[in-house]
Amino acid sequence: MISGPQAARQAGRMVRLAEQGRPQVRFRLDGADCAALAGDTVLTAVLVSAPAVRQSEFGPEQRAGFCLMGACQDCWIWREDGGRLRACSTLIADGMQLRTTPPEGWQ
Ligand code: FES
Repeated sequence: MISGPQAARQAGRMVRLAEQGRPQVRFRLDGADCAALAGDTVLTAVLVSAPAVRQSEFGPEQRAGFCLMGACQDCWIWREDGGRLRACSTLIADGMQLRTTPPEGWQ
């Protein structure tokens, strides 16, 4: 899906315009290697690399967060181990493994 900064810019909903001085953090999204910057929220990290954090459970639309401050619950994203986290209020960490679709058997 995403490999390298140029591919990430083309695939993501957000484009990082200027600030580049922080250390790079590597994570995986839907099995693909992605990169973010230390201090990014999971939401920022994912949306720099992908168009959405998940599919809506109510229709075919994709979700990419709404309030960006922990209030609306629109930005839930799954971890590979089956748990979920709120992307806008969780910092990305090196080695995180995330997925935009629920794991098998998740309800
Ligand atoms: S975007 Fe609203 S809770 Fe995360």
